[in-house]
Amino acid sequence: MEKIKVHDKYFKPMISNEEILAGVDRVAEKINLDYKNEENPPILLCILNGALPFTAALMQRLDFDHELVSMKVSSYVGTHTTGSVQNLMGPTASVKDRRVIICEDIVDTGITIRALRKILVEEMGAIDVRVATLLVKPGKLRDQLVKEGLVGAEATEKDIDKFMPEYNAITIPNDFIVGFGLDYDELGRNYKDIYVLSE
Ligand code: IMP
Ligand code: MG
Repeated sequence: MEKIKVHDKYFKPMISNEEILAGVDRVAEKINLDYKNEENPPILLCILNGALPFTAALMQRLDFDHELVSMKVSSYVGTHTTGSVQNLMGPTASVKDRRVIICEDIVDTGITIRALRKILVEEMGAIDVRVATLLVKPGKLRDQLVKEGLVGAEATEKDIDKFMPEYNAITIPNDFIVGFGLDYDELGRNYKDIYVLSE
């Protein structure tokens, strides 16, 4: 794995494809256990575009019937979150009265998954929403929760847990990354490994 250039910035190797797929294996195993007795096939909701490679890898490892639905939302411009979530497309099928597993590429501030959980349940009538994510930045999530007053500055890991995705494969520091679906201004999604911004 070598350094790559995306637009004007350089990124260095961080997580290999083998490590990524081992993380997907772990998450799939947990999801399979939780959903094995499900009578109605749940919806696997791919959050476009970033979660496409993760969703594809995950669904190949799921051994219960499920329906694939996609939705496009946006919160990031360049390397920073805008703080508000826009629904750009979908969902491509109704989620009313259905159990939903959101598939995300990464949970950063957590603004996107919090907004999605609310929209899917309160506006669209889903009966249950869980989140599966390839990556999570717990540091950024914590900062945002403190900033919004949802937890205190002294919050323990247990307090933060309530806001964490139900299933997450890999935990990373507060760095900006690309690859395996993740982009920097729409480029860099095609790399099979994950790269981190280098100064
Ligand atoms: P959040 O709403 O702050 O949790 O951000 C979620 C969305 O921001 C993800 O679905 C990604 O599309 C994008 N995002 C967050 N961190 C990164 C990153 O390091 N690289 C690329 N995209 C990111
Ligand atoms: Mg994105």
